[in-house]
Order: sequence, then C-alpha cells, then structure tokens
Amino acid sequence: MLTLGLETSCDETAAALVRDGREVLADVVSTQIDIHRRFGGVVPELASRNHLVQVLPVLQEALTRANVTLADVDQIAVTSGPGLQGALLVGLQLGKSLALALGKPLVAVNHLEGHLAAIRLAQRAPEPPFLGLLVSGGHTTAYAVEAWGTYRKLGSTRDDAAGEAYDKVAKLLGLPYPGGRPIDALAQQGDPKAVRFPRALPAPEELDWSFSGLKTAVLQHVKLHGVPQGQALADVCASFQEAVADALTRKAVRAAKQARLPAVVLCGGVAANSRLRALMEARGREAGLEVFLPEVKLCTDNGAMIAAAGALTLARGMPSPLSLDADPTWRL
Ligand code: KG4
Ligand code: ZN
Repeated sequence: MLTLGLETSCDETAAALVRDGREVLADVVSTQIDIHRRFGGVVPELASRNHLVQVLPVLQEALTRANVTLADVDQIAVTSGPGLQGALLVGLQLGKSLALALGKPLVAVNHLEGHLAAIRLAQRAPEPPFLGLLVSGGHTTAYAVEAWGTYRKLGSTRDDAAGEAYDKVAKLLGLPYPGGRPIDALAQQGDPKAVRFPRALPAPEELDWSFSGLKTAVLQHVKLHGVPQGQALADVCASFQEAVADALTRKAVRAAKQARLPAVVLCGGVAANSRLRALMEARGREAGLEVFLPEVKLCTDNGAMIAAAGALTLARGMPSPLSLDADPTWRL
C-alpha cells in the first residue's frame, strides 16, 4: 500500500511516499526559510505563493527518488489544518485533484496528528497507549494517545509554545530565524548553569507550561548585560536551553505517571533539540518509562509524517470527500 503525503501548512513544501504507513521511500522537503528570514517570521501571502511554485517540483522529485509513478500511488494524505489558510489550500487542492484524476482515496490529516505519527517511521516505535509530547513552533501539548485517532489533552502551554520561545529568544540574541537550531548549536559550547533562568512550571501538580516568563528573563538579562557575545552568548543559549528542556521533561514524566502511561514519545520541531532528547531519555529511564524519539529530520515538518497519519486513518476506513476544505484552527 503506497501512500503519498502532502504538507503545505506553514513554510515547508513537502511530499513523501511511504509504503504500508511505515517505510519511507522518499521524503522531499523544500523550505522557505530564506524567503521569510528577513521578515523574522512567516509571511502568509509569501508562503502560499511559494507553495504554489514548489509543490509540483517537490512531488516530482519525491516520485523520482522513490522510483515510482503516480499510477503506483494507492492513497493520498494531505494536511488540511491547522495552519495558514492560503498555504493549506495549495496542498489540499493538489491532493484533491490527484485523488480525482487517479480515482484513489483522499484523506485529510491533522498536522498535529502527523507529528505524533512520525514515530511510526522510526525503527523503534510503541503502540498506544503512550504519552505524546508535541513541541513545535505553534504548540506545546501533552496528549494521552489512547489509540491512534483517540487523543486526550493532559496539559499544554498557557502562553508561548516552546518553539516560539526559541524563536523569540534567538531574535533577542541577534540569531537567525528560526531560532531552534542556532541556539541548540551554540548551547553545545556553553555552560547550562551559567545563568539561572526561571523554570516555566506553574503548580507542581498541574500539567501545564508557561514560557513567557523565561523569555522575559532572557530579555532582562540582555537589558542588564547587553547582547552577549562569544562565550557569554553560548552560556546564555545553554542556560535557556536547559530551562526549556528541564520544564518539558519534568512535566512529561509527571503527565505520564498521572495518566498511567508506560511510554513517552516526543514530536514536533523542538523534539529535534539535542538537550531535550538527552534529558528526556535520562529522566524517562529514572522514572521507568520507555522513551521513543523520531529521527531528527522527521521532527520538523515533512510529508512522511502526513502519509503515516493518513495511512492510519484510512486503515480505519475514514476517507475524506472531494469537497474537503482547509480548517486553519482544527484541534486534535
Ligand atoms: O514542527 P515544526 O517544524 O513547525 C511547526 O509545526 O511549528 O517546528 C518548528 C519549530 C521552530 O520554532 C524551531 O525553532 C524549532 O521547531 N526547532 C528547534 C530545533 N529545530 C527546530 N527548537 C529547538 N532545538 C532544535 N534543534
Ligand atoms: Zn509542524
């Protein structure tokens, strides 16, 4: 069973071919980061227009790399939300047109479910139930994944998403957008204990996060000491990164324990973070929880995760109509 996955919800144009919902034959991602960078964030109108330019070449490249043709595709999975309306429409219209032309089933995929399903593409993947911690540019949410398709929200951020905190702090420090990777790289050379930034933990028994205080603390630090350079910059990055990873993993363990879930899965762009991955594994081990991490390149937006999620939905027999619309605020 060959699934084509299409993703255009934000600033990545992506297409992938996945066999039996688990084996990635090709995964092509064209990023628009260079286009949006000088604006310090994603410009919706530019995103849509660039998806329109890139989506067919990206699809063609995926078919070539997988060494298949459109005739080999059995089903089409496409992100229909949440995301930028105009950006979503580009992938959605392509998916619908292909489904009509090929006479193959179409399935709408929730982008967040796509991130959770990325773990299915790893060598080691758990079956539900498990705790799914989704940490991306727009979301920081812990779900009890009771079954594929059945998600219960256990906690989430009250203000900024973890990735948003990375991006805002990077801007304060004069680092490029998006800030996750540059901060992660600088943090490798820094001392995580150099600056004691506040931990974004509301009450200990609650499962929510808050990252705006941490961002403000970095702002105060910059106001007081100036924009750090050299070793001081690496130290601030490492200290900030430690605060984020500490808060995320502490509450993830608590959430898994409270909901009696045996395993933790990280996903979303911030799950690519080296410190978060290491600390989650260490704290999971201490707490007797199994920890599963998607491959780093499958943490950020891609088409393979959309194919993986779509294959699960179609296996339950739930195709979407050709009248399908984008749903920019679709909740999981
Ligand atoms: O999942 P994603 O690609 O897009 C959304 O759905 O939001 O996540 C993008 C976010 C950005 O905020 C980016 O700064 C962050 O993921 N990110 C990272 C790393 N790589 C990407 N954050 C921390 N460490 C990283 N290595
Ligand atoms: Zn995403």
